[in-house]
Amino acid sequence: MVVKNICCLGAGYVGGPTCSVIALKCPEIKVTVVDLSKERISQWNSDKLPIYEPGLDEVVKACRGKNLFFSNDINNSILEADLIFISVNTPTKTFGNGKGRAPDLKYVEGAARLIANIARSNKIVVEKSTVPVNAAESIMKILKANQRSGVSYQILSNPEFLAEGTAINDLLNADRVLIGGEETPGGEAAIEELCAIYEHWIPRKNILTTNTWSSELSKLAANAMLAQRISSINSLSAICESTGADVAEVARAVGLDSRIGPKFLQASIGFGGSCFQKDILNLVYICESLNLPEVGAYWQQVIDMNEYQKKRFTSKVIESLFNTVSGKKICIMGFAFKKNTGDTRESPAIYVAKTMLDEGASINIYDPKVEETQIYEDLTHPLISESPEHVRKHVTVFKDAYSATNGCHAIVLCTEWDEFITLDYEKIYDQMMKPAYMFDGRKILDHENLLRIGFNVETIGKRLGRPFVRRRWSSNPAVL
Ligand code: UDX
Ligand code: ADP
Repeated sequence: MVVKNICCLGAGYVGGPTCSVIALKCPEIKVTVVDLSKERISQWNSDKLPIYEPGLDEVVKACRGKNLFFSNDINNSILEADLIFISVNTPTKTFGNGKGRAPDLKYVEGAARLIANIARSNKIVVEKSTVPVNAAESIMKILKANQRSGVSYQILSNPEFLAEGTAINDLLNADRVLIGGEETPGGEAAIEELCAIYEHWIPRKNILTTNTWSSELSKLAANAMLAQRISSINSLSAICESTGADVAEVARAVGLDSRIGPKFLQASIGFGGSCFQKDILNLVYICESLNLPEVGAYWQQVIDMNEYQKKRFTSKVIESLFNTVSGKKICIMGFAFKKNTGDTRESPAIYVAKTMLDEGASINIYDPKVEETQIYEDLTHPLISESPEHVRKHVTVFKDAYSATNGCHAIVLCTEWDEFITLDYEKIYDQMMKPAYMFDGRKILDHENLLRIGFNVETIGKRLGRPFVRRRWSSNPAVL
């Protein structure tokens, strides 16, 4: 079989960009991305795409209506397809067995049942969502149990390694593509079909083929190890703050060791995003299911350290503001979990905002790409607030950093947006309450300059000197 028609179930952060790039690179293949949500599909068909991703607009514009289609007609798209990507959501379970740890596979299962109901011809089904090890087997069980005569399935695991904010570049210049499948003639043929698609732009030597288990575990392992680096450097940032060391200098010195390398050593307020926490929780759950509690505890520590980092930073904000933020106005600069995305899933800013609200503060929020409705949705979520009215009363969302900081006692920078680096901080300082505080949770600002302006500055992994204005208040040099 030569793949001529691709259907992608799920038009989210993974399915949308991935299939847009496949359409761009494989003009002879018709790619249809389908979703249950009518709103999402109409956004994909509009000028304002549902996700912000640098370079995505251009790719979609080049292919949409030619060989790339976004549709709610799921049945027809499955019927037509030779190959189906499952890119549906796999949130962590919020109830029942495995609550808070195991991934909720209801959407993956739903997708498999849908395919089984509708398919009338052979299909290669490719799991692209992050799923627990062994999910391919579950998908296969569902498909086989509901198989029509004359229809056969091959299940492949093809985890996606794109990072948000750099998705298009990650897809175009992938370090590697990983394809796992059954070690049978049918499985190997299916792997070849999927290889042929990626070979339109990825050199064959960068396409790894493995058995399904290895492929599924590699995805969890890659995310766990990336997150582990962040938790490691964040743990060291706490030591730096209690000593005279600077975590940036430590990271540089450590990262210059070619065996360690410099990437993912940026100490921060903590990692967010839809993958790291979910995938590690998933790994921990697998370890427990396999009766490997010590291995599970090892990985759990990566998440615990991340929670500790968010808490430590937020406590520092409160302590610095004379141990109370009640009645104060705090500006949260940046709400996305990282720059260049409008995604807020697991964003540390949510934790900061929740704590400030619980402590009685009012908050002003500005993020260049996160929609106001998303911010209110996150903060009024039942797990975050018991009182949506309280949130609506005490949270104001602004369209620029200058109005958001006006009249605030402190700024808490949660996302490393480039535009925050070049703001006019003299102007911002002048319109803030005094003493004015800056908490740089991303270590991106010019702290010396901020101190010179008069800000009290706190950041991650470095003790900063007292601000210039304080020096003038004290005649005793020992107090400096
Ligand atoms: C991650 C993986 O990188 C990607 O391969 C996988 O497919 C999905 O999960 P993503 O979550 O989109 O991608 O973003 P990533 O760049 O990995 O950042 C995750 C979080 O870690 C962000 O909150 C980021 O700010 C934080 N981070 C990253 C740090 O705090 N320090 C770093 O050095 C790097
Ligand atoms: P990810 O970040 O993994 O891409 P998202 O939540 O952004 O996850 O997107 C997943 C999408 O999958 C959602 O838009 C959801 O509506 C869609 N979806 C879930 N189940 C199905 C299904 N059975 N068929 C089609 N789309 C589905």
